[in-house]
Amino acid sequence: MTTILNPDQHEDAAQILREGGLVSVPTETVYGLAADATLDAAVAKIFAAKNRPTFNPLIAHVADLDMALKIGAFSDDARMIADTFWPGPLTIVVPTHADNGLSKLVSAGLETVAIRLPAHPLARAVIAALGHPIAAPSANPSGAISPTRVTHVMDGLGGRIDAILDGGDCGIGVESTIIGFLPDPVLLRPGGISKAMLEAALGREIADHQSSDPITAPGQMTSHYAPKGRVRLNVTAPEAHETFIGFGAVEGAHINLSPSGDLMEAAANLFEALHHCDRENVAHIAVSPIPMVGIGAAINDRLQRAAAPKP
Ligand code: TXA
Ligand code: MG
Repeated sequence: MTTILNPDQHEDAAQILREGGLVSVPTETVYGLAADATLDAAVAKIFAAKNRPTFNPLIAHVADLDMALKIGAFSDDARMIADTFWPGPLTIVVPTHADNGLSKLVSAGLETVAIRLPAHPLARAVIAALGHPIAAPSANPSGAISPTRVTHVMDGLGGRIDAILDGGDCGIGVESTIIGFLPDPVLLRPGGISKAMLEAALGREIADHQSSDPITAPGQMTSHYAPKGRVRLNVTAPEAHETFIGFGAVEGAHINLSPSGDLMEAAANLFEALHHCDRENVAHIAVSPIPMVGIGAAINDRLQRAAAPKP
């Protein structure tokens, strides 16, 4: 059975984690599926509950910078980016410290570790109460759409995890940006913090991840975040059989991500729109063009994965 915990029960959430259980925890991006990152058996349960390939590494979420510095070796650039954008929707991949105390499953055998200091107060409260980093992928079955509401987590993983800590709806709605320092900066996943903001802070260009790079982001499989129906992108004239997800001032949208054309609002509504299509068993989805500005890059990235042919 999966218990729903109220926001004031973050100590109970930490206790379940301490005992090796799984708790879905709200973050400002999407709900995470957390385990104590130092416990092998608990981290292994994440892979089982999500049916996630074990070669796909997890993000270690920390409560403060000290916790991050204990597990990863930050170059000056990596440290500057952490100081500028944490807490927030940014994950930083750096070399691991050999004695970091984390389960080897977290990094899936890589010599790097992905670290995030979330801005969500409940996520930080749980990690601080536990006193260890939590490993937390998005709380959805592998390959499905990420959850931005408690009901999404319950629909996807109810009965397979111990608890969900209710933090309401997630504010940002797409997963964190991932930047790797390998050692040069590489954008591994677009997200809540735009590439332009990172480049402005670093004062130099950041390379884009090449899908041919073997190790860097095993999670960047082409079909990901996929709804059940077929998805057609950049549609201005939807066909009669299609459910139309609009953006801006468009006619005939069944759902509009943001009638006023606000990209932040669209990001926050994106996954609920796709979850809605799954709940209604929609077979054909058409989506308006979304500008490639700011968080629009992350929205387009997720939509392209949603539209990619399934394996
Ligand atoms: O916003 C987020 O980042 C959410 C919330 C819960 O924090 N988490 C999330 O986790 O999106 P997940 O597991 O769905 O995505 C993590 C991504 C995967 O694509 C994985 O391959 C990549 O991070 N990753 C993890 N460790 C890595 C590493 N050492 N090197 C490169 N990529 C890594
Ligand atoms: Mg995910």
